[in-house]
Amino acid sequence: MGKYRGNPQAIRALVREAEVHKDTYIDQELFELEMEQLFANAWIYVGHASQVPNKGDFYTTTVGSEPVVMVRHSDDTIRVLYNRCPHKGVKVAGETCGNTGKFFRCPYHAWTFKTDGSLLAIPLKKGYENTGFDGCEASHGMAAVGNVKVYRDFVFCRLNPSGISFEEYFGESLSTIDNMVDRSPAGKLEIAGGVLRYINHCNWKMLVDNQTDTCHPMVAHESSAGTAVAVWNEAPEGTPKPMAVELFAPFTSPYEFFEGMGIRVWPNGHGHTGVSNSIHASYSAVPEYWDAMVAAYGEARAKEILGECRHNTVYFPNMTMKGPIQAMRLFKPLGPDKTLVESWTFRLVGAPDVLLERTLMYSRLINAPTSVVAHDDTEMYERAQEALTSRGRDWINIQRLYDPDEPRNATAVTNGTNELQMRNQMRAWAEFMTIGMADEK
Ligand code: FES
Ligand SMILES: [Fe+2]
Repeated sequence: MGKYRGNPQAIRALVREAEVHKDTYIDQELFELEMEQLFANAWIYVGHASQVPNKGDFYTTTVGSEPVVMVRHSDDTIRVLYNRCPHKGVKVAGETCGNTGKFFRCPYHAWTFKTDGSLLAIPLKKGYENTGFDGCEASHGMAAVGNVKVYRDFVFCRLNPSGISFEEYFGESLSTIDNMVDRSPAGKLEIAGGVLRYINHCNWKMLVDNQTDTCHPMVAHESSAGTAVAVWNEAPEGTPKPMAVELFAPFTSPYEFFEGMGIRVWPNGHGHTGVSNSIHASYSAVPEYWDAMVAAYGEARAKEILGECRHNTVYFPNMTMKGPIQAMRLFKPLGPDKTLVESWTFRLVGAPDVLLERTLMYSRLINAPTSVVAHDDTEMYERAQEALTSRGRDWINIQRLYDPDEPRNATAVTNGTNELQMRNQMRAWAEFMTIGMADEK
């Protein structure tokens, strides 16, 4: 047994009031415990209903390190199955997405399963007669994840059969999803524009931490966004401002801008930047969109919806969202020093195409494998991953604006450069990592 397995005190000791031990980012055993504990006890995003509009449509993904398949069942509900054949363990659905018809068929020996996972047929079934097959595990088919919640078309699951409810886990933080969906005049989102995928050689928590790190843009992104602004400043007077400059420029905002925008934290590790202002607040208006929103909601409600301009929302542990531009990123852990980053974009049903165009451009400029901005961050993550192994220091500091009496596991609004959300996340991490582990007597 390693240092941390079965030792909740040792795990909790990694998260001090305003410091985090380097092992949380580099230790293999802790990574495995994150998969077994954190990613099983928390509610994790699986996919979006618009990816599986028709019966038999499926999408394969992972929850922590578990391969799963999300599928539209014959009763029109969305099911999440462990993507594992009960026979010899083969991954049943091999494609990323598609339509499987009325059943899944394992490619190894052709056992078939209904889209709720139950066993449909086995070739040469008579070979199992009088073997007591009905009493064995395989007779139950592919295992279904028991706790699935579809919230406004966002599909989440909790792998552990018992634990915190969806409503209690997310609480008021669902307001970010609400706002993003409400921005559609039809109250509906659709995944659009494909997905951007790339691997960062760093711990997944570095990417989460970065979402509310408001003291880095003006420093780390000076070389990219700063250059874009400098070039734009030399453009002849009267040149129309390109959309790209509008998207880049806010990254160079001063500290005071980020201090003033505010951070809101919620229980269970969720939180967001951009309470009263954000880098997404000053994009050009799109008159046809405003008209569609007023027609759908009335002027007062439309104003309220569009006036909410949150920056980054963290849905702990590994999902982040930008409501005002309908972008979502997932940080899928592959190892203590390896993370798959996915950037997804949504179409606001009933809104002009220019909004999707803006989202896609934002993702290409800021969050794509070819982006100039994301690479500034990637370099910082990978330099940190390398240097954290140093014997020179053991702790990571998250102390900015720390107050011993600050709210714990509660909703609060604070200065936009406060590292409270990082402390909030790590306090939730320590809690969800140790659920069900007996304390030593
Ligand atoms: S492993 Fe799936 S049918 Fe044999
Ligand atoms: Fe950044």
